[in-house]
Amino acid sequence: GAAGASASRGMGDGASAQQDTFRAARKDEHVALARAQEIHRNDFDCVAPIHHALGACDVAAVDLSTQVGPFTWPVPFYINGMTGGTEATGRINRVLAIAAREVGVPMASGSASVALDDPATASSFTVIREENPRGFVMGNIGVGRSGADARRVVELVGADALQLHLNAGQEIVMPEGEREFSGWRASVEEIVAQAGVPVIVKEVGFGISRETQRVLADLGVQVVDVGGVGGTDFARIENSRREAGEYSYLAGFGQSAALCLIEAEAGSGLDLLASGGVRTPLDVVRSLILGARAAGVARQFLELAVQGEEAAVAGLRSWRDQVRALLALLGAQTVSAARHCQVLITGELAERARLRGVD
Ligand code: FNR
Repeated sequence: GAAGASASRGMGDGASAQQDTFRAARKDEHVALARAQEIHRNDFDCVAPIHHALGACDVAAVDLSTQVGPFTWPVPFYINGMTGGTEATGRINRVLAIAAREVGVPMASGSASVALDDPATASSFTVIREENPRGFVMGNIGVGRSGADARRVVELVGADALQLHLNAGQEIVMPEGEREFSGWRASVEEIVAQAGVPVIVKEVGFGISRETQRVLADLGVQVVDVGGVGGTDFARIENSRREAGEYSYLAGFGQSAALCLIEAEAGSGLDLLASGGVRTPLDVVRSLILGARAAGVARQFLELAVQGEEAAVAGLRSWRDQVRALLALLGAQTVSAARHCQVLITGELAERARLRGVD
């Protein structure tokens, strides 16, 4: 692999058996620390769709399906990669998988390389496919692992696609984090070539700039989740896992999903997904207006999962119905029509977009 045996430890990757207990603890810690973060205002609040009082269409006429690379998804939102690796996180994956099946929502696992190193944890990931045999399932692995490992994760999870996460901002703050990043482009290329399924490259909450989108397109990537700042903040999560907490100033570092979508090049050939701070069905619709094919939701669906199966199914159903209703309100009968809705970009987001050369 590009980064060899000292591969990225990422969201839970790792090499030595000695680290297994430590990594397992981190999986549970990530869930607890993410849930402790309050949900803030973010750049989606600077995205104001224009309302036309005679512009709505029939709710029943709205088609929620969306094209993502070679795939057609039934709804334009998905359960983003979060967890697995412990008993508690396996239960979360099970509840999410059941809700995904019942409502027809695509779902990703959390980083599954822990299961390659410690097969005892595999069932916390395989439960996702077991509970949802026909739904759209994504595996997840961190950059820096080998192409062979990527393929093993795909097989373990039974995945239709693989999420490949880029998380330099997290690694820098993580006490036990990676310090070698120069092999990452080669690693992306290797994983895209060897995963055996389409690879969706994602950030974990720092954003994927226009320049990086171009690099990824050149490396053969077709789908990118811009994973922006404004939601779950892994700089804060990892900083609170440090004894001295030196990096507290890095909270909020990076670009929002909204900015990444606005500055994206029209002709890049990439299909973009939006995540990071998607709080409501309106944030999903805002993402679609800004050009995303779908929006990824982690924290909000984690909150549903901890309430149990019934709440998770009802919650996802409600999101689906609300997205349909909002598209009707805006007169968009299809997801791709949402891109033609008028929108005002206000405040700090407008300022940042202007500084990035968008007018
Ligand atoms: C995550 N996220 C994440 N991403 C990834 O690619 N691999 C992973 O293993 C994890 N693990 C993880 C654990 C927990 C508890 C959370 C909440 C999140 C990041 C996630 O996919 C997403 O990019 C961010 O959480 C931002 O989205 P939200 O939470 O603001 O909707």
